[in-house]
Amino acid sequence: MENGIKRIGVLTSGGDAPGMNAAVRAVVRAASYRGIECLGVRRGFNGLINGDIVRLDADSVSRIINRGGTILYTARSDEFKTPEGQKKAAANCKLFGIDGIVAIGGDGTFRGLREFSKQGIAVVGIPATIDNDIACTDYTLGFDTAANTAVEAIDRLRDTMQSHERCSVVEVMGRNAGHLALYVGLASGATAVLVPEKEYDFERDVEERIRRARLCGKTHFMIIVAEGAGSALEIGKRIEDTLALDTRVTILGHIQRGGTPSARDRVMASRMGCCAVEALISGEKSGVVCAKDGDIFSIDISSALAASKGLNEQQYEVMEAMMGIDD
Ligand code: F6P
Repeated sequence: MENGIKRIGVLTSGGDAPGMNAAVRAVVRAASYRGIECLGVRRGFNGLINGDIVRLDADSVSRIINRGGTILYTARSDEFKTPEGQKKAAANCKLFGIDGIVAIGGDGTFRGLREFSKQGIAVVGIPATIDNDIACTDYTLGFDTAANTAVEAIDRLRDTMQSHERCSVVEVMGRNAGHLALYVGLASGATAVLVPEKEYDFERDVEERIRRARLCGKTHFMIIVAEGAGSALEIGKRIEDTLALDTRVTILGHIQRGGTPSARDRVMASRMGCCAVEALISGEKSGVVCAKDGDIFSIDISSALAASKGLNEQQYEVMEAMMGIDD
């Protein structure tokens, strides 16, 4: 027994992200390495409320490091936000002998965890969302895979746009944040990128950039729109109306959430999973795993949720310097 922790429950919550399975595996294997039992809680916090809990051992998480989605299923639980839901979940922790919870998800998951820690159960969150919008950490699991999936799709779109000399407008996920869109725009050599963090002016940020690219001899154009920045369909229509360019709109949608996790996601998931288990062992009561400047460590959940994450300004400046002439 390590610091009173005999049995850990692990769950995935919120939108799924590639690398969640690798993180579940890492938590189970790290716990087993330290002589701690692990239980899998299915369907997010709903599984804690309903006692939807299964035994996991080192062997049961074999061959999932490379699998997208989550073997534990995931959900966004409204009941867990209520005091009754929290009490039911705490009662099930007592019933199953769970001393600590590792929850893999985004900031909604962490808010639920913070509240739940008041029930006297130790909790640690692992950041996983393709949006990479959690302030306390440079990295959230799933971002790299989602970005690569989007870039591959955009490369394919570029082929056909180039053949037909068209304009492509691609909507990328990210909820209210533009981290994914900016990164993808930079990697795909876009003509313009629209993100929610920067108010855009259609004439200046879209029309003029397409015009400059056209003057440089380009006959196809790639506009990346973060879902939080506006409707890709409306932007596409406006481009057709004002510039008379044959335009096609593609909403990448949930394609970005699936697929085999990249090497980066697998490695980060392994490191974060181990860190979460070590945090519980060392007596953490309410923590979140963070990646900063190459290090992985845990911090208090309240300070993790206190700040909001701004766009990487340096990356944005690079994008500004690159935009205007499509690759
Ligand atoms: O937070 C991850 C995310 O994929 C966002 O980028 C997107 O806005 C949202 O989840 C979509 O949620 P759902 O899967 O419920 O449609």
